[in-house]
Amino acid sequence: MTDVLREPSSQLTSAGTMVQTSMSRSQVALLGLGLLLMLLLYVGLPGPPEQTSWLWGDPNVTILAGLTPGNSPIFYREVLPLHRARRVEVVLLHGKAFNSHTWEQLGTLQLLAQRGYRAVALDLPGFGNSAPSKEASTEAGRAELLEQVLRDLEVQNAVLVSPSLSGHYALPFLMRGHHQLHGFVPIAPTSTQNYTREQFWAVKTPTLILYGELDRILARESLRQLRHLPNHSVVKLRDAGHACYLHKPQDFHLVLLAFLDHLP
Ligand SMILES: *[C@@H]1O[C@H](CO)[C@@H](O)[C@H](O)[C@H]1NC(C)=O
Ligand SMILES: *[C@@H]1O[C@H](CO)[C@@H](O)[C@H](O)[C@H]1NC(C)=O
Ligand SMILES: *[C@@H]1O[C@H](CO)[C@@H](O)[C@H](O)[C@H]1NC(C)=O
Repeated sequence: MTDVLREPSSQLTSAGTMVQTSMSRSQVALLGLGLLLMLLLYVGLPGPPEQTSWLWGDPNVTILAGLTPGNSPIFYREVLPLHRARRVEVVLLHGKAFNSHTWEQLGTLQLLAQRGYRAVALDLPGFGNSAPSKEASTEAGRAELLEQVLRDLEVQNAVLVSPSLSGHYALPFLMRGHHQLHGFVPIAPTSTQNYTREQFWAVKTPTLILYGELDRILARESLRQLRHLPNHSVVKLRDAGHACYLHKPQDFHLVLLAFLDHLP
């Protein structure tokens, strides 16, 4: 097979070979120029490049960061509404491979501020800048931890966005503290199988169930349970996997804003 393929190339005219060589030389030259430009840009830039957001970036939005007080401090990033303030406040949790910085990189925090929402993204214990917490080892502990964070940050009208692993926190909180939630946005969360249909039925919180079309495991498993929430709508993002907000950020943002804008 290899021999057969090699044969015609050995028959190339010398002109053909020359073209090939000069092309690769100019490619090398271009590459070198590119690297030099990158180096110059890098040296000339004021801040570390990972702080620039690459979608929906808005220089007018200031992202605040801090730690909650107490024994198990939780790191958070926060934006305040830019113009007209909406009533509900958005609390963003994260999946296993992510942290609060994800919502800054995606531009979600900036966009929410532009649209008049206060938004807070948390690093769950043991992720990003939050230390692991002993409290987080029990179901009750995780619910209380979230409740404490909402108290510390004075979030009154929370809409909780919970992708994947963060269901570990969000579901226990939902079951105990749903009267404190103005909205719930589960994105293929874990832990839904831990609760009965009756428990879901008792939660009246307006819910937007979001998932990626290509997520065949956790999305379906969680949807089977979340369907028992009495006031829910379901949106499936096309061509998106488990982390559908990363694969289709613009669709995700549109659907999230439509839900938030219509909350009572
Ligand atoms: C930032 O704010 C200024 C003044 O309000 C406004 O003119 C400008 O369009 C804003 N920039 C963005 C990207 O929204
Ligand atoms: C699910 O239930 C089991 C058994 O009660 C418990 O050990 C586990 O911690 C629960 N998981 C979550 C996420 O609450
Ligand atoms: C259901 O949720 C929607 C928001 O998605 C809200 O406008 C409506 O009032 C809720 N219905 C009930 C019966 O709570």
